[in-house]
Amino acid sequence: MTASTLKVRVARKEVEAADICTFELVRADGGALPPFSAGSHIDVSLPNRITRQYSLCNDPAESHRYLIGVLKDPSSRGGSKAIHELVKVGDVVEISTPKNHFPLAHEAKRSLLLAGGIGVTPILCMAERLATVGADFEMHYCTRSRDRTAFLDRIQRSSFVRRVQFHFDECSDDQRLDIAVLLAEPNAGTHLYVCGPKGFMDAVLSNARRQGWEESHLHYEFFAAEPVKSDADGSFEVMLSSSGKVVVVPKDKTVVEALAAAGTNVEISCEQGVCGTCLTRVLEGEPDHRDLYLSPEERAANDQFLPCCSRARTGLLVLDL
Ligand code: FES
Repeated sequence: MTASTLKVRVARKEVEAADICTFELVRADGGALPPFSAGSHIDVSLPNRITRQYSLCNDPAESHRYLIGVLKDPSSRGGSKAIHELVKVGDVVEISTPKNHFPLAHEAKRSLLLAGGIGVTPILCMAERLATVGADFEMHYCTRSRDRTAFLDRIQRSSFVRRVQFHFDECSDDQRLDIAVLLAEPNAGTHLYVCGPKGFMDAVLSNARRQGWEESHLHYEFFAAEPVKSDADGSFEVMLSSSGKVVVVPKDKTVVEALAAAGTNVEISCEQGVCGTCLTRVLEGEPDHRDLYLSPEERAANDQFLPCCSRARTGLLVLDL
């Protein structure tokens, strides 16, 4: 265990909706948990030795517990299946302290919160926070059906229920979310937050960009990504600026893997380009960005990249390592 990790006990595990469980985590030694802000996630070390990120979905004012909601995803790479099937009440698991790569923008005059499926977890936490501070917001929550809608009761009993609109795929067309209409009038004071499956997020973000939303007003967190591989992928070199050491990245290895084989470990978590943990500064050369973490502007600057998934457009990248 390091200074940034904690042992927590599973105090409660409940079925929240079809294929969705919540896990209530309390500190194993009984103390208060480190504070967190809306949009935060924790890394959970699972019994099958993999680490996954889960957004905290309880009220950020609470310090006695962390609550996470997990969808059992048939296309999972082992994380959601492991936590659903192997983690039981009473188990002690190691987690990271909360990290926030999806914070609320304090300058927002109004917040538009869009959740798709299990992407509701950080969005609900944001809604709690905005309601607590009396901020202006509107939340839209899209799911396939009522029985797959996590936190339905909690939202319906909340003080902010009038600010939430549910959109179920199984219902009539006029009840479904019309993204183009919702985003039709970008406003300088309104910030948009979106979390959900990749197709949902792509639809929301591409619509917002097309309709002229400022990039700085778009806030998003992808929770999974397919690795982007191409037959055209080739090998390239990376140089560590601190030592001048050059490492070859073969076409079938990631930069992180090649560096690890050469004795340089970069901190990683998701290994999918969504969490930002491995973010590394690029001093020379042009990265081939394959992540879902950086904004279009950050990508265009080419001065940082995610070496767990991104590659190089030039033969050499000089890294600030
Ligand atoms: Fe998550 Fe690289 S480890 S983005």
